[in-house]
Amino acid sequence: MDILEAHHLRKIYRYSGKTVAAVQDVSLRIAEREVLAFLGANGAGKTTTIKMIAGLILPDAGQVRIAGRDPHRDRQTLRSLGAVLEGNRNLYWRLTAEENLEYFGVLRGLAPRIARVRSQQLLARFELTHKRQTPVQALSRGMQQKLAIAVALIHDPQLLLLDEPTLGLDVEATESVKLLIREIAAEGRAILLTTHQLDVAEALSDRVAIIQKGAIAIESATSDLIRQFSGTAYTISLEQPLEGDRLAKVYFSANPTETGGVIV
Ligand SMILES: Nc1ncnc2c1ncn2[C@@H]1O[C@H](COP(=O)(O)OP(=O)(O)O)[C@@H](O)[C@H]1O
Ligand SMILES: [Mg+2]
Repeated sequence: MDILEAHHLRKIYRYSGKTVAAVQDVSLRIAEREVLAFLGANGAGKTTTIKMIAGLILPDAGQVRIAGRDPHRDRQTLRSLGAVLEGNRNLYWRLTAEENLEYFGVLRGLAPRIARVRSQQLLARFELTHKRQTPVQALSRGMQQKLAIAVALIHDPQLLLLDEPTLGLDVEATESVKLLIREIAAEGRAILLTTHQLDVAEALSDRVAIIQKGAIAIESATSDLIRQFSGTAYTISLEQPLEGDRLAKVYFSANPTETGGVIV
């Protein structure tokens, strides 16, 4: 079953006499247990698309359905949706990790007792129990990102939207966030993650949709896309120039099917 259906979304920003066609035509579907990587250069329209799906900005055209409901018309839709936007905007910096989880749990409709239980479970699972009484502003960037994902999961949503989840994290925190995302998808949730890093898309997603200038340019299974692009090009950097004979050896080992040719 498709948890997310987005049809022909479009958003034009208008300000001080200018217009920016941020999203021209984007359609996406995600089934349960599926991770879709939404890949594109900076400014391609990823965040604008996520905001329309999350019900935060109204599309100029197109429709969104989350578990069959329209987030722009039906507030109940928010029950099925968790989102982490760019820059941890879903956390209160002066509140502790635990307070953030409980506060957002109640805000999303959980009874306070349930919010407390879920909060402790998520802290344990995200390896943040020892930081539960630490204000968000004193946590490392990686811990803040993990907490932001935990907060987005507090009400057990079917769809999780993650905007650049590994941006600005160090190698270790990136790996730990990647592992969590895989586990969350395995629980049966649908995940939409935006990234401009191909390696993140490769490690996490089942399918990839590439957005260019506000429109979907390519959509395919991640494995097909990787196969298509792998092995087609190499960049070999050398500290000093090679003379003809050795250069030829490098050339022919990279092109074993070729039997001859002039090296220039
Ligand atoms: N609030 C806004 N007002 C005007 N232009 C915006 C606004 N938000 C984004 N844009 C513009 O829309 C385009 C798409 O931006 P965005 O959706 O943030 O792309 P991405 O997340 O892929 O980097 C960019 O040209 C950006 O400058
Ligand atoms: Mg963005």
